[in-house]
Amino acid sequence: MKILIVGSGGREYSIGLALHKEEKIKKLYFAPGNGATDNLGENVAIKDFEELATFAKTQEIDLTIVGPEVPLVDGIVDVFKKHGLTIFGPSKAAARLEGSKIFMKNFLARHGIPTAKYIQTKNLEEANTFIDSLSLPIVVKADGLCAGKGVIIAKTYEEAKSAAQEMLSGESFGDAGTSIVVEEFLDGYELSVFAICDGKDYKVLPAAQDHKRLLDNDEGPNTGGMGAYAPTPLIDEELYNKVAQRVVKPTLAGMEAEGNPFEGVLFIGLMIVKGEPIVLEYNVRFGDPECEILMPLIESSVSDLFYKAATKDLSNLDIKIKDKFAVGIVMASENYPYSNSKPSEILISEALEDEIKEHTHISFAGVSKEEEKLFATGGRVLLCIGVGDSIKQARDRAYKRCGDVHFAGKKFRSDIAYQALK
Ligand code: AMP
Ligand code: GLY
Repeated sequence: MKILIVGSGGREYSIGLALHKEEKIKKLYFAPGNGATDNLGENVAIKDFEELATFAKTQEIDLTIVGPEVPLVDGIVDVFKKHGLTIFGPSKAAARLEGSKIFMKNFLARHGIPTAKYIQTKNLEEANTFIDSLSLPIVVKADGLCAGKGVIIAKTYEEAKSAAQEMLSGESFGDAGTSIVVEEFLDGYELSVFAICDGKDYKVLPAAQDHKRLLDNDEGPNTGGMGAYAPTPLIDEELYNKVAQRVVKPTLAGMEAEGNPFEGVLFIGLMIVKGEPIVLEYNVRFGDPECEILMPLIESSVSDLFYKAATKDLSNLDIKIKDKFAVGIVMASENYPYSNSKPSEILISEALEDEIKEHTHISFAGVSKEEEKLFATGGRVLLCIGVGDSIKQARDRAYKRCGDVHFAGKKFRSDIAYQALK
C-alpha cells in the first residue's frame, strides 16, 4: 500500500511513524513533510491540490490522509474525490464544522446538541445588547479560522464589547472576524474526544487532555498545545455513553441528513459541566499534540482504520486499543509562541537505559535537515513521548527522553499530566 500524508508537523510525523511499522505499507509520501519525515518516506513539494491529485494518481497512491485543517477547509478532499482518489478527511462542506463557528453553532442548535447559549451577528449593537444580557465572563469568537487565536474570554463588559468591535471592524482577524459568535461562559473542565468517522459509523479513540498554556500551572499565553496525555481519568463509561448518545451520534446523523456526511477525524472539544458534556467546538482533524500520543496507543492496524473510514467500511472493523497510557511533552524553540527563533542543531545522545529507549520515542515537527544533521527551525520542534502502565510511568519515561535531547533555547513544561496525577 502507498500512502500520502498531507501536512508538515508532529501530527503528520506520528501518523507516518505508525504506518511505517506496518508490513503492508510499501511507501509513504509527505506533502510537504519536514526535515525528519524523509526518514520515513519521501517529501513532496507540491501545494496545489490539482497537481497533488495528479501526483497521487501517477504514483498510484492508495490512500491520502490529511493532517491540518486549512487544506480541508479549502476543499482538498473534494478535489481528490473528483479524481476518483481515496482520501481520508471531510469534504469542504463538512469541514465547516471547524471552518465556521457560526455554521457549527447553528448546526448544534438545529440538531439539539448541547452547547453554550449564543448569538451570531455581524452587527455591533446586537452584539452589545446580548453582551449586556449575559453574566461575566463572556466569550467572543471570530467566525473563521484564526489559528487558535479567535476566542476572547472577557472578564468585563467593556472588554467583551471592545473585542466584538475590533473583530467586526476587521481590525483583529480581517475577514475571519467580521461575523462573530457571542456566548455564555461555561464553567467546568475540558476534554477532547476523537471519533474516526466514515459518514455513518465511527470508532472512538481514548479521550485526551491537552495543555494549551506555555508555562507550568497553566500560566502564560495560549499555544497550539505544549503536551498531552491519554487516556485521561476525567472520563468514565457513563460520560463516554453520554458523549456518544448526545454528541457523536446526533452529529453524524445531522451531517448525513443535511447532505454532508462527515468522514475523517471528528475532534470534539467538550466542557464537562456538572457531569454533562457540552460542545465547545469541533475540529475536523486530529489535535496536535494529541495525535502523537494516540497513535502509539492503537494496537490494531492504523492503515486499516484510515482506509476503512475513507471507504465507508468502518462497521466491518474492530479496533484494539492498548491497555497503556501515553504522555507527550512538547519541546519548543526559544521564542515560541511569539516569533521565530534562530535555527539550532538538535543533538540526541541516545545515552539512555534500554528500558527508556524501548518505551519512548520522538515525534519531529519544526525541524529541517542539512547534511544529515537535524536543525530546530522554530515553533514546536518535537515531542518526547513515553508509554507506560500508568500515567506516572509514561510521564517519567517521557521526561527522561526530554533530558536526552538538546538544542539551543529549548523549552518545555515540567508538569504535563499534572491534573491526572493530583
Ligand atoms: P474554541 O476554539 O471555541 O474551542 O475555544 C478555545 C478555548 O476557549 C477552549 O478550548 C476553551 O478553553 C475556551 N472557551 C471557548 N468557549 C468557551 C465557553 N463558552 N466557556 C468557557 N470557555 C470557553
Ligand atoms: N492541540 C489542539 C489542537 O490541535 O487544536
